[in-house]
Amino acid sequence: MKESPIGVFDSGIGGLTVLKEIMNVLPNENIVYFGDTARVPYGSRSAETVTKYAFQSINFLLEKGVKAIVIACNTATARSLSIVQQKYDIPIVGVIKAGVRTAMELTSSGVVGVIGTEGTVGSRAYELEMKSISSRVQVKGKACPLFVPIVEEGWHDTDVAEIIAHRYLDELREDGIDSLVLGCTHYPLLTDTIQRVVGEAVKIVNPAKETAMDLMDTLQKHKLLNERGAQPSYEYYVSDNPEKFSQVGEKFLNRAIDGIKLVEIQKY
Ligand code: DGL
Repeated sequence: MKESPIGVFDSGIGGLTVLKEIMNVLPNENIVYFGDTARVPYGSRSAETVTKYAFQSINFLLEKGVKAIVIACNTATARSLSIVQQKYDIPIVGVIKAGVRTAMELTSSGVVGVIGTEGTVGSRAYELEMKSISSRVQVKGKACPLFVPIVEEGWHDTDVAEIIAHRYLDELREDGIDSLVLGCTHYPLLTDTIQRVVGEAVKIVNPAKETAMDLMDTLQKHKLLNERGAQPSYEYYVSDNPEKFSQVGEKFLNRAIDGIKLVEIQKY
């Protein structure tokens, strides 16, 4: 069991920002990644639909023999984490708790910004989690739907990204946030642009790093850490267009992605 892979899934390539951190923090672990590229984006879909997709992704990963699962997607975490955790026996880790914890540690004014897809911001999942830690925290949520296509287009460091970031984020700056959670897997690639727009004083939180630490704690707790120092294996599956996944994904992951396989996810 300890040498079984970890399953990681996302609506597409965005989860690779989380995968990258997992690879750094847990270099011994074998990993199976699934990107639901046929049905991306999840951000504008209903809670029911995203939950159904999460079940299918988990069923697929279980067939691959995974020992634990990471929902490397904010929208899927917001919509389905508590539901799927009740259904399955193996540990399932999401990305929201990690970002919440870090933001709550970093804020001194108690005014925290959260940006994400319409689904994530609309679910108020970050806000509810933060309020459960401190009822005094003020959470300013803002959906930034154009950020995902900008990143996929490779325009994250351009004037286009900066103009759009001003449109979305100027109001958060005026609200006086002192920390800002990147509540969407694509946004870490926009960190420099976002930092320029909100100002150097605002602390940017990328939940991916803390998620990898949460996963390590979870594996430790369940005695599931892979202690074998062999070269890990990484497998990639997508539901559509493997060529685009490898092209764009390499930017997210900073390494080559080979041998991507197609999966008919509707079957699961
Ligand atoms: N992975 C999604 C998230 O983190 C962003 C892309 C989508 O809308 O599917 O919310």
